[in-house]
Amino acid sequence: MTVNPEQTTFTRKRYNTLAALYDAMEFGMERRQFQRWRQHLWQDVQGPRVLEIGVGTGKNIPFYPPRVFVTGIDLAEKMLAKALLRMQAIDAQNNALLLMDAQTMAFSDATFDEVVSTFVFCSVPDPVLGLKEALRVVKPGGRLLMLEHMLAEPPTLARAMTYVDPAIHWMMGVHIARPTVAHVTAAGWLIDQVTPLSYGAIFRRIIAHKPN
Ligand SMILES: C[S@@+](CC[C@H](N)C(=O)[O-])C[C@H]1O[C@@H](n2cnc3c(N)ncnc32)[C@H](O)[C@@H]1O
Repeated sequence: MTVNPEQTTFTRKRYNTLAALYDAMEFGMERRQFQRWRQHLWQDVQGPRVLEIGVGTGKNIPFYPPRVFVTGIDLAEKMLAKALLRMQAIDAQNNALLLMDAQTMAFSDATFDEVVSTFVFCSVPDPVLGLKEALRVVKPGGRLLMLEHMLAEPPTLARAMTYVDPAIHWMMGVHIARPTVAHVTAAGWLIDQVTPLSYGAIFRRIIAHKPN
């Protein structure tokens, strides 16, 4: 499996274009649901060395537990610039931000204790490749903690999502009809828990670990 440069450039461009609007676009959902889900996910993070894939504008930074050190990576430099501003605004000391593609990371094998992603594997061009890289850079027994949206369980809704997916991807760089739990398994992770968070299980919390 290798990185597809055209698809990766497309995703980077979409997120660089969206960066200025991203926080405003998500404002309502953040206040109603996402912040609560983020807080709950990060309360479970043990560390001490944590990788956050697709850190975006840094919405998780306020929830990083003080006892862990988080390395956040993102493909889009304009998203990362927003994350840097957020990090400085709250004077966060326990993290670093790097421009890096999750599909081909510069880290050595078994660098991290845990990996976290929130709403990311809907947009990583090759999600299984990215999840395999995540598996490589985490220690044996290390955990993957995810909040992701994916293909709904009710068949009618799933069909509608599959139908509109190409148009949404073209506009926003995001896929709304991915079978993300199957992608996690296909990459070699062992699933511990999948918790549906919304109607049709579109949003789910996934906890998995790397085999020893
Ligand atoms: C929907 S945003 C989510 C941002 C953030 N995690 C959050 O919870 O708000 C998806 C992010 O994943 C990043 N991304 C997509 N593909 C990536 C890749 N291959 N490597 C690293 N980051 C990637 C995008 O640039 C974008 O910032």
